[in-house]
Amino acid sequence: MKIGGKQYRAIWPGDDLDCVEVIDQTRLPHELRIVRLGSAEECAAAIRDMVVRGAPLIGAAAAYGIALAVRADPSDASIARASALLLETRPTAINLRWALERMKETLRGLTPAKRADEARELAGRIADEEAAACRAMGNLGAGIVREAWERCGKTRPVRILTHCNAGWLATVDWGTALAPVYVAQEQGIPVHVWVDETRPRNQGMLTAWELGQQGVPHAIVVDNAGGHLMQKGLVDLCIVGTDRTTSRGDVCNKIGTYLKALAAHDNDVPFYVACPTSSIDWTLDDGLASIPIEQRDEAEVTHIGGIGPGGDLVRVRIAPVGSPAHNCGFDVTPGRLVTALITERGVCPASKDGLRHLFGRAS
Ligand code: MRU
Repeated sequence: MKIGGKQYRAIWPGDDLDCVEVIDQTRLPHELRIVRLGSAEECAAAIRDMVVRGAPLIGAAAAYGIALAVRADPSDASIARASALLLETRPTAINLRWALERMKETLRGLTPAKRADEARELAGRIADEEAAACRAMGNLGAGIVREAWERCGKTRPVRILTHCNAGWLATVDWGTALAPVYVAQEQGIPVHVWVDETRPRNQGMLTAWELGQQGVPHAIVVDNAGGHLMQKGLVDLCIVGTDRTTSRGDVCNKIGTYLKALAAHDNDVPFYVACPTSSIDWTLDDGLASIPIEQRDEAEVTHIGGIGPGGDLVRVRIAPVGSPAHNCGFDVTPGRLVTALITERGVCPASKDGLRHLFGRAS
């Protein structure tokens, strides 16, 4: 997608073979800074510190991390060490494990001398495939947006609510939840996006920035506004992403997603989840019972970041001194509250049968 009219991805291989480059998402939306990652350790730090974030992008960054480790040392021990380091960075997005397993499985079958080229090639392929999956979800999702437009007699923009950032920044290119928005816009369907601010880290600002760069009309709303907007008939559909979807269609996404799904259910607003294959955990069934929920630093709740009058990024405390905070990064929305999953293979019910039918497997 574009920044200032120039085409970017959220991650790309450096010109020399010994690095990968990413956009530093801790500086956005205030500053566009490109960061060079030259080792598995630097990739792991970038994931942990949320320089890169969003489930598919975390997976792609981990794949490049393995490629960089293999370039430095192609031994089995090096791959195992890098994989363990990368895997422990963030616990919830299954894309991380998915990408690491895929890298390890391919490299295992090769002699060390052949591993560096293959690892770099496969990391690039994983990134390309994620981008292609997002584009495919965009095409399918745009069909849903078009139906909403036709339902209102094409008299006004389709009003879509989204939570967190599930746009191109989170996914290599296009986005999961935002891909249908971008493709709808491409097709001339007018859209307006309600952007949840998404406390505590305010990933909604990334969404707003992305949408602004693509010229998509939008408004940022506080996290608590969604229910009211739905009651007032101002939301035609919700589309969110997912960090892990279980084999029965339970969806784990950024904290607050569940409350939006409840409000959507109460107001008969369709609630869609854009879910690439890489975000499905076929080994889990009951999402609430089994998906590990990332517990994050209290300071993300007690403090807030932004740009100061002098143009510096600043953090200020908003909580009283001494008040503790509880900061869970994700929540689980049961499949029964999800209208449908938009995958790159098709749109299906968020259920065991729905997924089985689309993917030809049960677990
Ligand atoms: O903590 P983050 O910013 O990595 O969380 C990202 C999300 O929750 C996204 O909605 C998710 O990864 C969906 S797909 C891009």
